[in-house]
Amino acid sequence: MGARVVSVILSDMSIARYLARLGYGTRREAEYLLAQRRVTTPDGQVVRDRDAFQHTSLYVDGAPLDPPPGAVLLLNKPLGYVCSTSDRPPLVYDLFPTRFLARTPIMAPVGRLDADTSGLLLLTDDGVLNHRLTSPRSHLPKTYEVTLAEPVRGHEVDRFASGTLMLQGETTPLRPARLVVTGERTATLCLHEGRYHQVRRMFAATGNHVVSLHRAAFGALTLGSLAAGTWRVLAPHEVDALRASATKRPTT
Ligand code: URA
Repeated sequence: MGARVVSVILSDMSIARYLARLGYGTRREAEYLLAQRRVTTPDGQVVRDRDAFQHTSLYVDGAPLDPPPGAVLLLNKPLGYVCSTSDRPPLVYDLFPTRFLARTPIMAPVGRLDADTSGLLLLTDDGVLNHRLTSPRSHLPKTYEVTLAEPVRGHEVDRFASGTLMLQGETTPLRPARLVVTGERTATLCLHEGRYHQVRRMFAATGNHVVSLHRAAFGALTLGSLAAGTWRVLAPHEVDALRASATKRPTT
């Protein structure tokens, strides 16, 4: 099992070190925050570096801390944002507090969405969980809403479901994928793997072109009412369910 969200008392770690790991500055800068009495309990009591603490018992400048180590974040990625720490902006990190880029370890995207794909993107600093969710052995379903340049012809449903479709430059066929046609040029596609530009390449293999792509679901997780450009922290039961479903074989 990977790291769990920290809720226990972390008395073996100084508060300054903990804050530095969360990106609140260098250790020296975090010590300075404490010296300036800017680190408090939720009810405003000033804390000292060596005090016992829990993640939720610390506020900086009157605000709760950013998500704890081991958290999984669900972002509704808008179009145009890049899943990278160092590409041409805008980056998905621009949608979080700037100190997120200084966290150790960093909140890394779970797989990637292209800049011109919108929708559900997970991020976590739990490397074991990230690996498990993105490993080729993971069968987690990912659901995409697709708009196409040309009308769907109908044969795509069987081709994608066949388990024999081979993409250019690859040596193994794609796993069966479920295509549901929702309109003349629209469909939803459910994949159980995550190859490079997979959806765009699948439709290119049928002579079509993806005009817009949106990820609506990752496993059982959906965006719900989360607005584009905003994010939330997954509840522990959602993380547990995600972890458990990563290795389950699909029924279709
Ligand atoms: N498939 C793609 O082609 N692009 C994405 O961003 C995700 C899946």
